[in-house]
Amino acid sequence: MSTSIVERVLLRGVYASATIGAACLATFVLYGFYNAFFHPLRRYPGPLMWRAFRFPYVIAIHRGEIHRQLKQFHDKYGPVVRIAPNELSYADGAAWKDIYGNRPGHQPFPRNPTWFKNRSPDDPHSIMGFDEDVHARTRRAFANSFSEKSLRDQAPVIEGYLDMFMNQMKAPRVGRQWRQKIVDLNTWFNFLTFDISGDLSFGESFDCVKSGKAHPWVEIAQDFGKGLSLIASVNQYPPFDKLLRYVIPKNIRQRQADHRKMSAAKAKKRLAMDTERPDFVTPTKKYSEQKVPMSGPEWEINMMIIVFAGSETTASSLTAITRELVQNRGVLHRLTQEIRSSFEKESEITIASTGNLSYLNAVINEGLRLDAPVVIGVPRIVPEGGDTVCGQWVAGGTYVAYNQFAANRQPHNFRHPNSFIPERFLNPDPKTDNMDSFQPFSIGRHSCIGMKLAYAMMRVILARLLFTFDIGLADEKDRWDWGEQKTYILWDKRPLRVILRRGAAL
Ligand code: HEM
Repeated sequence: MSTSIVERVLLRGVYASATIGAACLATFVLYGFYNAFFHPLRRYPGPLMWRAFRFPYVIAIHRGEIHRQLKQFHDKYGPVVRIAPNELSYADGAAWKDIYGNRPGHQPFPRNPTWFKNRSPDDPHSIMGFDEDVHARTRRAFANSFSEKSLRDQAPVIEGYLDMFMNQMKAPRVGRQWRQKIVDLNTWFNFLTFDISGDLSFGESFDCVKSGKAHPWVEIAQDFGKGLSLIASVNQYPPFDKLLRYVIPKNIRQRQADHRKMSAAKAKKRLAMDTERPDFVTPTKKYSEQKVPMSGPEWEINMMIIVFAGSETTASSLTAITRELVQNRGVLHRLTQEIRSSFEKESEITIASTGNLSYLNAVINEGLRLDAPVVIGVPRIVPEGGDTVCGQWVAGGTYVAYNQFAANRQPHNFRHPNSFIPERFLNPDPKTDNMDSFQPFSIGRHSCIGMKLAYAMMRVILARLLFTFDIGLADEKDRWDWGEQKTYILWDKRPLRVILRRGAAL
């Protein structure tokens, strides 16, 4: 071949590549332009790049900053913001009923499969899944395990782990020598809630409290939220999601696979036990044997999800509430007084006896409001044909969610929204605090099945801790806003180092 032919071929190659590149760029720009200015959601306000493309949202999720971004957008654009070409974020209390409730004459808004996609067609759907029929059947099967009666039966198990936790907090106690010690309550709350959930789901403790160390299952579970949000972000790009999964670090993928195997083995072991122990399995197993059977893989996936859903959220709430208390001494003082004046001995403090402490309940609710454990709402999808949300028409297929962190910190919902003021829950004034917008456990058919259990655990744990110890920050400079942490659906929590001193009961 002469040089001129080679040159011509090369030149053609360059032209072809340039043309393809330019066409891709033009398509990309046109796609963004269409989304921003011609899409059915064009009338909803939001930042331009987010309205035009999905990638800013995905980047914010990867960076663990989505909650702060959403808060800033709601501060700027108001109660409804378009945060992706096909997604609206709500911070208007009326949205709860429209998106999550059961409105007569309206179709339900299903869960978004992007967040709960099955990895293979053989994977069973779970109570957290998007298949509404399987969800309804599974929820019915577990309902008795979370009833008032079951909670009463489970109370001694929970209190037993709390005894062990308190002994660890008090140790070493040699005569009158015990004065004070520093502990990271973030770690210890995690140990405690995982041990309780593990016992109630798998029939055996992870022994974290006893050993003072995280069990491998618990270590991995702490990355669960991160894994889920990373997978959800690549699922935004079908049909490339299968390929994009490889972008997720190999060690995270491997840890998730190991976790799944470990959970399956534990669930099998519990199911094989012939026992009537008070836990989440006994009533559900009866239902499954007498009414609608649940398959082995369904048991395994549901038990894994329930252990995680029940422990990480509750531990996160306990850490956030305790941090708010040590950073707000006035509130801590009032709460400690309420608890110490209600009981004479630590042994009187039980799940049953802590139900009616009004300031304790207000403190817990204020912690759930300010530092919402479920930071962003997992989106729902507007059914085909479209529907109204907060009185405005939304096209079918749009993703919609109530984002709690951003919404709970809006002045149109709460007076002094960024401050920890439990008093607002004692005598709510509808003119300044919109309690309809406060739904930490969501509402409707997918609302938290463990809500009563979560409140019971938070009340008894906080009451015993504050009855027994005077607590304060180990380092007075370690003060910051809970929202400064990263989030991956749940919080990527930092340590909470506190100093425990002899209180009323030591
Ligand atoms: C402070 C603690 C907790 C908070 C803030 C919380 C919050 C929530 C929220 C907001 C949802 C709805 C999720 C969605 O919209 O898709 C939910 C669902 C769920 N939670 Fe909780 N939760 C807590 C504790 C627990 C506990 C203790 C358990 C069980 C041991 C539990 C088990 C579940 C389950 C199984 C679901 C799925 C329910 C369904 O779809 O029918 N949670 N939780």
